[in-house]
Amino acid sequence: MTRIEHHLSEERRFPPSEEFRAASRLGDPAEYERLYRESIDDPDSFWGRVAGELPWMKPWERVLDWSDAPVARWFVGGQLNASAVCVDQHARGERAQKRAIVWEGEPGDKRTLTYAELHTEVCRFANVLKARGVSRGDRVLLYMPMIPEAAIAMLACARVGAAHSVVFGGFSSQAIRDRVQDAGATAVITSDGGWRRGKVLELKHEVDAALDGIEGVHTVLVVKRVGNDVGWTEGRDVWYHELAEQVSTDCEPEAMDSEDVLFLLYTSGSTGKPKGIQHTTGGYLVGTYLTSRYVFDLREDDVYWCTADVGWITGHSYIVYGPLANGATVVMYEGAPNHPGPDRFWSMVADHRVTVFYTAPTAIRAFMRWGDEHVERHDLSSLRLLGTVGESINPEAWMWYRRKVGGDRCPIVDTWWQTETGAIMLSPLPGVTATKPGCATVPFFGVDAAVVDETGQELGVDEGGYLVVRKPWPSMLRGLWGDPERYRETYWSRFDGLYFAGDGARRDADGYFWVLGRVDDVINVSGHRLSTMEVESSLVSHPAVVEAAVVGRPDELTGQAITAFVTLGPDAPAGDELRKQLVEHVSKEIGKLARPAELRFANALPKTRSGKIMRRLLRDIAAGVETAGDTTTLEDFTVLASLRKYDD
Ligand code: WTA
Repeated sequence: MTRIEHHLSEERRFPPSEEFRAASRLGDPAEYERLYRESIDDPDSFWGRVAGELPWMKPWERVLDWSDAPVARWFVGGQLNASAVCVDQHARGERAQKRAIVWEGEPGDKRTLTYAELHTEVCRFANVLKARGVSRGDRVLLYMPMIPEAAIAMLACARVGAAHSVVFGGFSSQAIRDRVQDAGATAVITSDGGWRRGKVLELKHEVDAALDGIEGVHTVLVVKRVGNDVGWTEGRDVWYHELAEQVSTDCEPEAMDSEDVLFLLYTSGSTGKPKGIQHTTGGYLVGTYLTSRYVFDLREDDVYWCTADVGWITGHSYIVYGPLANGATVVMYEGAPNHPGPDRFWSMVADHRVTVFYTAPTAIRAFMRWGDEHVERHDLSSLRLLGTVGESINPEAWMWYRRKVGGDRCPIVDTWWQTETGAIMLSPLPGVTATKPGCATVPFFGVDAAVVDETGQELGVDEGGYLVVRKPWPSMLRGLWGDPERYRETYWSRFDGLYFAGDGARRDADGYFWVLGRVDDVINVSGHRLSTMEVESSLVSHPAVVEAAVVGRPDELTGQAITAFVTLGPDAPAGDELRKQLVEHVSKEIGKLARPAELRFANALPKTRSGKIMRRLLRDIAAGVETAGDTTTLEDFTVLASLRKYDD
């Protein structure tokens, strides 16, 4: 295994402006240094103090129990409820009339919920769940458009003690089915549809297909959003609005143990079978609460907008749990960034006077391509802080974001983290950290990150290697649903006692971390992690296909795009017709975002002697570059040559 190369050299630095620093939550470098040291040297006292800022129903006895490593227990013995943390504490206090959710539908309809109103709606939703027999310990699958009910449903599940498992609305019925079955979900919450680029996403329809012929789901709760016709299974399907009229709006939150599961969120695994990442209640809330507070520098009058979908971890941690735990005003938007025009986001920033804006590099690259005029047309002077997440941001996109969106005035927080980490791990703190374009900079409080070589030894300045975390942190995943062994193996076996989840990085002379991307086979399309194996299995499930290998190639817009290499059975005719069919097939099976951008037919695939496909070589071919790496394990050298020539 060789170290990871890096080719980027970036000299620009942007310290926080005096104005920003003076007004920020944390603007004193010495204070920051002291807190960071404490968070590493004396985590019990640091995290105990932070946790004390949340409303607990029963105090914890111990901050951390790491005796069963790598399964951590945080705030041992404590009890709390996530919906009470995010809603009740504010609804009962001075923030009762403060806006909690400011929502816009794609067609332009608007809704605002104060904390008091959010409280009523969460209680109502929780009572509907109870009326349908959902209770503590159950798993509920959500397949929702970006409407307030998505957040309300998550909080309602938390209130009754059921774990939610949100499936992104772009996934197809097969993905829903796999996740329902793996999680043993007994209820599904969906909607008749949602709006996306002026079209209706038929969500209920996908749920019906997913549940066809499988057992175990007793209730499909349908929120009316669009008013389109939907199929109906009597007894199982119920309209939310009909039940909502019949229940009370009083609902006591369940007292949950700090380590009770709050939610599952499935991500693609490199072996194909999706992984149910398991997050628990106390530590996750403490982590998302504190990162929201300091990374986004949240203040009472902020209007905060994270453009992610609730189907991803970013939506969980930074639309719902983190900001609401802080009593923030959160903007939520249903649709596409370019509907009705490419300036939709900017018109919303201006209309709602958004102050903190958090989006993904893939979106920023799209905005750049659509043209500066769409940004320049709008008054973005309300913005004071910008953030990015999902993949490394190329310095030029970072500079564009800073100039065009941030008016050269707003700091940018480039936040590195993962579904598994639950909360932001590397990020500037905007009042103290000088930023560098394309760099996620420094570890957050309590994060003991390092870059190591293949033996686990820490590397020196600017040496590329594996990004690991050496100490447990509160919002870390607690396991993979139903598969404790896979948890250990996936994250803790590569380096003894170190958490490693697949990214490479280097550390520069200032101690800043530069994330170099994933070192394994997972493809990141528009910030979405897709397993090569899943796409391959889907291709192979088509009758014409014998074998498939899928790799990512660099793509200006989506970060990576999928190139599929496919070998066919003897009777299958290679050609455009079949190519179209196969792409459509993947789209149907996994979802649109997994569609190969390029599909090449091949006579054979490069394999090792033990029969493993060498994706590394295919990646070079897909990217059109010479193969630099080791080819000694290659079984048949003629295969490579023929693949390069193949260009039908
Ligand atoms: C990548 C998203 C570079 C990384 C919160 C990680 C990033 C994976 C960054 C997790 C960043 C996320 N810079 N790479 N700022 N943020 N990544 O689970 O490869 O959807 O491991 O969580 O995205 O993706 P996930």
